[in-house]
Amino acid sequence: MDKKWWKESIVYQIYPRSFKDSNGDGIGDLNGITEKMGYLQELGINVLWLSPVYESPNDDNGYDISDYQAIMKEFGTMEDFDRMLKAAHDHGIKLVMDLVVNHTSDEHPWFVESRKSMDNPYRDYYIWRPAKDGKKPNNWGSCFSGPAWEFDEETQMYYLHLFSKKQPDLNWDNPKVRQEVFDMMNWWLEKGVDGFRMDVISLISKEPDLPDAPAGINGYASFNAPANGPHVHEYLQEMREKVLNNADTITVGECSGVTLEEAKKYARSDGKELNMVFQFEHMDVDADGSNKWTKKKMDLRDMKSVLTKWQKGLEDIAWNSLFWENHDQPRSVSRFGNDSPEYREISAKMLATCLHMMQGTPYVYQGEELGMTNAPFASVDQFRDLDSINAYRELVEEQNVFTAEEMMSFLRYKSRDNARTPFQWDDSENGGFTTGEPWIMVNPNYTEINAKNQLEDPDSVFHYYQKLIQLRKEKELIVYGIYDLLLPESKEIYAYTRTLGDEKLITICNFSEQEVEMEIPEEFLEGNYLISNYPEQGICSKMTLRPYEAFVIEK
Ligand code: NOJ
Repeated sequence: MDKKWWKESIVYQIYPRSFKDSNGDGIGDLNGITEKMGYLQELGINVLWLSPVYESPNDDNGYDISDYQAIMKEFGTMEDFDRMLKAAHDHGIKLVMDLVVNHTSDEHPWFVESRKSMDNPYRDYYIWRPAKDGKKPNNWGSCFSGPAWEFDEETQMYYLHLFSKKQPDLNWDNPKVRQEVFDMMNWWLEKGVDGFRMDVISLISKEPDLPDAPAGINGYASFNAPANGPHVHEYLQEMREKVLNNADTITVGECSGVTLEEAKKYARSDGKELNMVFQFEHMDVDADGSNKWTKKKMDLRDMKSVLTKWQKGLEDIAWNSLFWENHDQPRSVSRFGNDSPEYREISAKMLATCLHMMQGTPYVYQGEELGMTNAPFASVDQFRDLDSINAYRELVEEQNVFTAEEMMSFLRYKSRDNARTPFQWDDSENGGFTTGEPWIMVNPNYTEINAKNQLEDPDSVFHYYQKLIQLRKEKELIVYGIYDLLLPESKEIYAYTRTLGDEKLITICNFSEQEVEMEIPEEFLEGNYLISNYPEQGICSKMTLRPYEAFVIEK
């Protein structure tokens, strides 16, 4: 097994808008992050991934960039950034930037030029097509509802936007575009950043004839239709040579629509492209086909089968990223655990155990380490996320696919805004996030769930995460051990082993509210607990697992 520092790291994701506001404008900022570096060090993480902090009109909260080499005004200045980077490094934390280069903002100077005329030097930086038989060039849909094509009056042509119409797709087939992106990346590396999380990087190369794809519930094909296009690997190899090899970087590709076979190319251990990918199959186990708007609960057997497929499929070939949450997903304790007062903490710890004992680099999303929950959004005007707002408009108001009540219940369960409510620092007003008016509602449960309480309580979810992170740093078995699933048919128990030479551990997680019996394999009967979310009950051949109980035994 090829040892690498990025395989041994634990990454923490910050959504800057919602982390910590230092100047009372209701929006989190870079100085807020700098202030909290000690907190992150105490948790034990050693890599920080920042969601975008660049200049942006904020149609999609910074995922629509108008200047890749400037800081968003609400977040601070380049001097604040430099101070934050230094503080991170002083705390032993590496910094990963979010690289959003499938698209720019429509306010980026390249697009402002591109739309001016057919012979503008920037025309070919984007994907322009004429109408086809008087209609849009194909049936692709935007990730945020409606078609992926916008008609532009100026030149009477359509441009492609797989996300909002304020996020036109760059034309990666144009070598000038690639060179601009590579130069910009090198500029950040020279500044001292340590790597990149690459936004929807699997979408950058489109089939030249842009073929139609199967349509979903709103009549359009998924934004994922162009995933893993004809030149994506070639372009990433070029990026590796021209940029990534210039420093000791960590790279993770957000790969919507990635298959196991494709992931082996993106994240192959020969190091020609990326270090690892985010795959999303386990985020779809509670979807209704391609429709995420449902309250369907996952069947644990599906979750196990997907995660096991990735654990075994990449074994010795490529490297997994492990995550339950990010800024696009609801809170995991509300989704896969149980956020009732009785089980919230115990099930949050269970989920953490299940994920952090797997093979791959774990990602912790801000607030997950406190067991933060989904928020009680009561009306549609409380949402800020364009995905949620557009879906409501399209599926309720325009197409009558769902009633308003149905859609509100789906949004409460799945909206991205569940992950974007402010970080809960303490029990003062607004959870200590801001002294001003927060840009999005604060989850009222901040009076109970907050970092201050948890730092004072040795039994808190925070301290449990801290222990899991510490264990991974101490034991190569947890980083490099081979994963094997036990009990694939159990609807309640997720159990697996990890093996490295003579060392072996077993992770046992009860995903249900019921007590369940489990036979413990003999080789672990003389073993030791590494961690447990209940008081240890003594190891014996038949154990009764308490609701949401989780523990790890080392042989
Ligand atoms: C994926 C990002 O994670 C998401 O937040 C964003 O809206 C889209 N890409 C578009 O950049």
